Amino acid sequence: MRIPLFGKRDRRKAGQGDPAENAYARQLSETEIASGEHRQFVGGMWDEIGLQQFEFLKSHGLLPGHRLMDIGCGCLRGGVHFVPYLEKGRYYGIDINASLIEAGRKELAKDTRNKEKRPDLRVSDRFDLAQFGAEFDYALATSVFTHININHIGRCLVEVRKALAPKGKFFVTFFRAPAPLHLEPIPRAGTEIVTHFDRDPFHQSLREMEMLGELAGFSVELIGAWGHPRAQEMLCFTPV
Ligand SMILES: C[S@@+](CC[C@H](N)C(=O)[O-])C[C@H]1O[C@@H](n2cnc3c(N)ncnc32)[C@H](O)[C@@H]1O
Repeated sequence: MRIPLFGKRDRRKAGQGDPAENAYARQLSETEIASGEHRQFVGGMWDEIGLQQFEFLKSHGLLPGHRLMDIGCGCLRGGVHFVPYLEKGRYYGIDINASLIEAGRKELAKDTRNKEKRPDLRVSDRFDLAQFGAEFDYALATSVFTHININHIGRCLVEVRKALAPKGKFFVTFFRAPAPLHLEPIPRAGTEIVTHFDRDPFHQSLREMEMLGELAGFSVELIGAWGHPRAQEMLCFTPV
């Protein structure tokens, strides 16, 4: 089965193909959110990829009392599982797109278990986590580094390093390239996705991620395949 990254309509609207434009700059309308389009906008597979993030972090030690920062949380595809699991005030999310955060709040409101959970959701494109005034046990960026360039990845890593607990873990998914500075596009088997060195959707090599991570004060472990339906691989950054 071939799996599209966005629906065809979304890809046109999102301006894919312009290397300077982040597809997620487009704000969804209230009508689009009411009809559930936000679920497709963040890549679809709402239940599958949402649950997968949740099960993955639990299998890597996430407990209800931990503080979790969901970087590029979007409309809470993962958050709808994390928020009811975590204790009140322990789920934090940051995203560039205000309409997706709004859609995420509406998704949470469908589940009565979330009534008093008070997740802290903020809009920013700078990964400025200090504004939350918290130290995080876990941070997660699912399908985010696949959409941002290496400068933004560097910024994100520096900001996460400052806000992560000394024994914290930052899990990141990425499309792996075979070598650094891999300029050739890479068609992703079994999907319609082609990844690029310098435009969205992006790929990075393990060496590049290790270098950036080390410069930001992390040691970097490749977890690799974790069952993602589009074959994004997983990395774990831990503070050194
Ligand atoms: C493919 S979606 C994934 C969303 C979410 N992590 C999930 O798994 O459903 C990518 C997300 O990254 C967000 N994003 C892109 N650039 C960003 C930036 N500079 N700062 C924060 N979020 C960003 C987008 O708005 C979008 O919500």
